[in-house]
Amino acid sequence: MKLWKGRFLKAENSLAEEFNASIETDRRLYKQDITGSIAHAKMLAKQGILSKDEALAIESSLLEILNDIEAGKIEFTIEQEDIHMNIESILTERIGAVGKKLHTARSRNDQVAVDIRLYLKEEITQITALLKDLNDTLTELAKAHQDTVMPGYTHLQRAQPVTLAFHLTAYREMFRRDIRRFGDCYEGTDSLPLGSGALAGTTYPTDRDYLAEELGFSKICINAMDAVSDRDFALEFLSCCSIAMMHLSRFCEELIIWSSAEFRFVEIDDAFSTGSSIMPQKKNPDMAELIRGKTGRVYGDLMTLLTIMKGLPLAYNKDMQEDKEPVFDAGDTLKDSLRIFTQMIATMKVNSHVMEQAAKSGFMNATDAADYLVGKGLAFRDCHEIIGRLVLYCIEQNKAIEELTLEELKGFSEKFEEDIFEKIDIRACISAKKSKGSTSFESVEQILSN
Ligand code: ARG
Repeated sequence: MKLWKGRFLKAENSLAEEFNASIETDRRLYKQDITGSIAHAKMLAKQGILSKDEALAIESSLLEILNDIEAGKIEFTIEQEDIHMNIESILTERIGAVGKKLHTARSRNDQVAVDIRLYLKEEITQITALLKDLNDTLTELAKAHQDTVMPGYTHLQRAQPVTLAFHLTAYREMFRRDIRRFGDCYEGTDSLPLGSGALAGTTYPTDRDYLAEELGFSKICINAMDAVSDRDFALEFLSCCSIAMMHLSRFCEELIIWSSAEFRFVEIDDAFSTGSSIMPQKKNPDMAELIRGKTGRVYGDLMTLLTIMKGLPLAYNKDMQEDKEPVFDAGDTLKDSLRIFTQMIATMKVNSHVMEQAAKSGFMNATDAADYLVGKGLAFRDCHEIIGRLVLYCIEQNKAIEELTLEELKGFSEKFEEDIFEKIDIRACISAKKSKGSTSFESVEQILSN
């Protein structure tokens, strides 16, 4: 029997019933739904809206239902549409008329809103912990590679030498911002909608502050209509997930490039690679590719909810039932990606010597050679041009700058002296960086210490 049957003369069309039901998706919210209902029942008793005994009967039956769900003893039905009505009807089956009193001073609109917020608060906590694990792993790896020199790129062209620790701590900053963003998202999510009723509040003398305290919310939503129509917190969550996935995806792109035969900077562990069904020699970075691919899926989740919300008049509309799939999917995908990614980088092999070899070609000390001439009193623009011509000469001669003789160098500028050679040594180029936050060994030590 439908909980809302009173006004209807005809039964629901079976296709419509199936189309309308969300139980297959929102069954995931069973725990949050029961937690919210228990707090609601307690509040109703505290306010004298239900008797103490009624509230106790509801609470103990809900706890039994919770156990039974977790023990796999309960079958939800699409006839009861969603998790809220499924649990309420089981409650009523079990304790009779008292069960029917639970929905006093409540609507499914504030009920579903509180369920999703409870779910997301937990989800954000888990994601934050995973991001911290990832950053711990990055810190460890960076500490081990403070002396590993590699090419720094712009346009994926060799630019200036850096250390691997510097490169890795750049990602650590990105994930730190993700943690901060999820923290902001938590703040936004941590506001209680329950007690708003369908849209306009309720005639019962409820205590929403008590509800907030019971359910661990730091504040309550202040406008009932907004409380039931708002999915900003879910959109913020999806934005945070999208940005974090984008960061993982960029890192994955680098690992894919770095593990190619052309680069050979790293080798991803066998445990995080797969083979080919036809080419026996292949070892593919599938995990990294999948994380990169799944980023598109998480962006899709964000677009889905933005699009669902864009034309909705206030207050609740059934369109909003479609919010759960993208929210669940984005959280699942990000958590899986973070777990896999962290283990993948913890186990990968870094070919430090290959990185260092790569850093020695590509004229990555050209800027330092120009800076050397600036030190001899020339204007930077002129030095830039002199070194540009010098590089062109080196390309023709198939030599690195440091392989030229002092006589050859003097052909480009009289200012070159013997000390140029130590200035353009790859490690000297790194050490010479003076600005805060630079790749110098000293600066990276500093970066790592905070
Ligand atoms: N299953 C619904 C959802 O997820 C619950 C809220 C239904 N409210 C309503 N007025 N039909 O959005």
